[in-house]
Amino acid sequence: MPVTIVVGGQWGDEGKGKIVDILSENSDVIARYQGGANAGHTIIFGGNEYILHLIPSGILREKTVCYIGNGVVVDPNAFISEVDFLKSEGITVDGRLFISHNAHLVTPLHLLIDKAAEDGLGAIGTTLRGIGPAYTDKISRVGIRAGDILKPVAFRKKLSRNYDAFIAGNSEAGVAVPTFEAIYEPYYEAAGKLENYISDVTALLNSDIKNGKNILLEGAQGTFLDVDHGTYPFVTSSNSSAGGACSGTGIGPTKIDRVITVFKAYTTRVGLGPFPTELTGTIGELIREIGYEFGATTGRERRCGWFDVPLAKRSVAVNGASEIALTKLDVLSDLEKIDLCTGYSINGDRLDHFPLDIEEFESAKPIYKSFEGWNVKLGGISEYSDLPEQAKSYISAIEEYLEIPISMVSINPDRESLLIKK
Ligand code: GDP
Ligand code: IMO
Ligand code: MG
Repeated sequence: MPVTIVVGGQWGDEGKGKIVDILSENSDVIARYQGGANAGHTIIFGGNEYILHLIPSGILREKTVCYIGNGVVVDPNAFISEVDFLKSEGITVDGRLFISHNAHLVTPLHLLIDKAAEDGLGAIGTTLRGIGPAYTDKISRVGIRAGDILKPVAFRKKLSRNYDAFIAGNSEAGVAVPTFEAIYEPYYEAAGKLENYISDVTALLNSDIKNGKNILLEGAQGTFLDVDHGTYPFVTSSNSSAGGACSGTGIGPTKIDRVITVFKAYTTRVGLGPFPTELTGTIGELIREIGYEFGATTGRERRCGWFDVPLAKRSVAVNGASEIALTKLDVLSDLEKIDLCTGYSINGDRLDHFPLDIEEFESAKPIYKSFEGWNVKLGGISEYSDLPEQAKSYISAIEEYLEIPISMVSINPDRESLLIKK
């Protein structure tokens, strides 16, 4: 299975980092295809926790090669601090980490625009990493790309043009803005540090495919944060579902062999937007506490709720999922009863699929099927067959509803614990 996509099936934070890290053991190459430093992918092993924002999670395996694809938006400061962090942990990246020449850069202007928008009426609860504004410039054809770093005169000119547009757009709002030089000098210095990492990642990846290398494409965010398929406008600004992996790296769709869609055994969401199965009372708080549901990038509380089958079904379809990795099953171990949302009641009518209209989705009342809890800790289990029967019934029900196999079940944050379901 040479080319595998690992993609989030819900609203992000499904445990993609852990799954990618485990699969990296048998992979040669890992590439990120979209998003930026809004992502926070956690990997835990040997008693240490690593949170990666921009660099693929496979970097922790010393023999892998890691790429940041053209679909990613790169903040030079975030990139450099992540490289420094890895170096301080004794992980070498030189010679095995590359940024696509065509990846767009997040500039200090994007950070200011993101903040101003979030301070205004249209706030959606972004990570304030400048993601939306960077993709806006990309689509408007005024973005600055990583390759521009190699052309200092053009780089300055482009940033200066964007600065002028920013000033023109904000002159009446009375927003205090730094001078161009105050922005340019430190930014160019940081961006310059990326020079040695810039490469033709699309060409490298296609030659890796030709040479039969095992390749993992690591999604950030999740299917319902996808700008096309998510709960718009409460989404991120990229195609985080599996389709984005091709455009975000320059690999053709015929080269993809396997799509692993990662779902949490329940659902979480950070930021604003509809979430029909959200639990706002004590059970939601318990799940947050046991699952340690706080954002890996911003530290914000994640909203918690039950697993939503219609949402997951849509995700399986959108991603062309070939299998599922189900994570954080252990977090449900203390509950007497576990609910699974199998449909919605909308204006008194039952709907078994994800509604097209966001207002309908906002008003959807979940219809639940209840499962008996297993009330026993899962620590120490290393075989799928040893899971409590109630846990297996819950997993089988999800599998039957989604009509594709759950091939992996995670019951602990640690690298070592992943149950393979045959
Ligand atoms: P990502 O963005 O999809 O990579 O996920 P995050 O790293 O943001 O959030 C997932 C969180 O769950 C992290 O704190 C992981 O260490 C943790 N985690 C992953 N798998 C499991 C699991 O099976 N059980 C528990 N309890 N925690 C897990
Ligand atoms: P990983 O890769 C969860 C959410 C934000 C906000 C919306 C838009 O760790 O799963 P943005 O800063 O992207 O413009 O914010 O998207 N969001 C995430 N939620 N996990 C993430 O990444 C996220 N990245 C962005 O909270 O609601
Ligand atoms: Mg995360």
